Amino acid sequence: VSPAVDWVEYWSDTGYDAAFWRRSLQDYAERLHEQVPFAETDCVLDYGAGPGFLAPPLAGRVAELCLAERSAVLCDHARELTAGLEHVTVVRLAEHEGPEVLPHRAFDVVVVNSVLQYLTREEAREVLARLGERLAPDGRLVVSDLVPPGSSLLPELRDVVGAYRRWFGVWAFLKHLAWELGKLPARRKLPLTRYDRAGFEALVQDGFSVQWIDNPTICRSRQACVLRPR
Ligand SMILES: C[S@@+](CC[C@H](N)C(=O)[O-])C[C@H]1O[C@@H](n2cnc3c(N)ncnc32)[C@H](O)[C@@H]1O
Repeated sequence: VSPAVDWVEYWSDTGYDAAFWRRSLQDYAERLHEQVPFAETDCVLDYGAGPGFLAPPLAGRVAELCLAERSAVLCDHARELTAGLEHVTVVRLAEHEGPEVLPHRAFDVVVVNSVLQYLTREEAREVLARLGERLAPDGRLVVSDLVPPGSSLLPELRDVVGAYRRWFGVWAFLKHLAWELGKLPARRKLPLTRYDRAGFEALVQDGFSVQWIDNPTICRSRQACVLRPR
């Protein structure tokens, strides 16, 4: 395996366990909806949408869903996955494009799940500020799966094993483990940006108020919050 040169390339490796990732996002949608309910009239943006696994549980439950993603490979997967779904669009972001190419004040909810750890602090601040401008009045920006300082891969894998046990049986975890082990050399070379709550609040304080919620992903040690423009 040749080490990925950046995180977009890292996530463009197609060897992931699609069934597990998709099931995780179904679970995510339910757990997020319990805390930040989606309305039928909502226009939703999933920024850094990956293969688009948030679309099946959300499309049909909201008015419009836009998936924005930088990886060409993952965009292709997202297009294939959402081909039969109505009111879903996939936007491929070019290498240096970000939220600025998306329409202003258009989205009631923006979801940024498991993305900010792959950006520098400055990039994250900029992306969140630009996403804030894409929110409709009273819109909310959900940031989830923030990686806290000091966390390591092993305890996180314990959460993953637990989820496999619940959904597919523990032996199915071997596929995921093989993928993680194959990607370890690349992971070690790429920087991960970590946030504690105070650090994250300081990062966004000029533009947003912050409400911490339960992280809707399977990683219990990670953090999630709802940002509302000030
Ligand atoms: C762990 S995946 C999460 C995908 C999706 N949000 C989900 O929850 O399934 C990380 C995503 O972050 C995206 N990403 C990584 N670095 C990025 C960057 N600098 N700008 C935009 N997206 C980036 C990757 O392309 C990938 O889709």
